[in-house]
Amino acid sequence: MKRSDLDWAHDLDRRLFLDAAWEKEDMKEAFLPGRRFIVGEAGRPEGWAAMDASGAFAHILSIDVEPSFQGRGLGSSLLSSLLSSAKDMGKKKCILEVSCDNEKAFGLYKKFGFKTRGRIEGYYPSSDAFVMEKDLEG
Ligand SMILES: CC(C)(COP(=O)(O)OP(=O)(O)OC[C@H]1O[C@@H](n2cnc3c(N)ncnc32)[C@H](O)[C@@H]1OP(=O)(O)O)[C@@H](O)C(=O)NCCC(=O)NCCS
Repeated sequence: MKRSDLDWAHDLDRRLFLDAAWEKEDMKEAFLPGRRFIVGEAGRPEGWAAMDASGAFAHILSIDVEPSFQGRGLGSSLLSSLLSSAKDMGKKKCILEVSCDNEKAFGLYKKFGFKTRGRIEGYYPSSDAFVMEKDLEG
């Protein structure tokens, strides 16, 4: 992700997540060490995803795909790319939080072998979150 992507990436996040969207200022985290923010393009940007790998584990922060482009494999490609990067960085585990209401994202993460490890009440403004984890070794 480049600085010039921040406006559309933030706009997409606001359209997808409303009151639970990233603050635009916080998206500058993309340029901190250990972060990997990537853009998925099909002629034009259609999605983005973010990971914080600055700590002991890789932490998926976000995956956003344009509503008109969902269901065509981009979410899988973005997640696959982040998981490869995490392995390349020597991370042994990947964690994430997902809204308990979000069947699509839960399905995506389950497909990639993430297991539910817990639930955080009130994590999002209007829902709880599942904490999911995937072993990156082996
Ligand atoms: C979740 C999201 C990133 C998935 O991206 P996508 O490009 O649509 O996903 P893909 O086409 O790669 O599908 C991957 C898997 O997701 C799951 N999935 C996708 N659409 C689904 C649906 N309507 N219902 C249930 N599971 C679904 C399936 O497991 C699917 O695998 P399959 O095609 O083999 O069945 C996308 O729907 C999105 O941007 N949603 C809004 C933002 C969001 O919730 N992000 C996740 C935050 S934690």
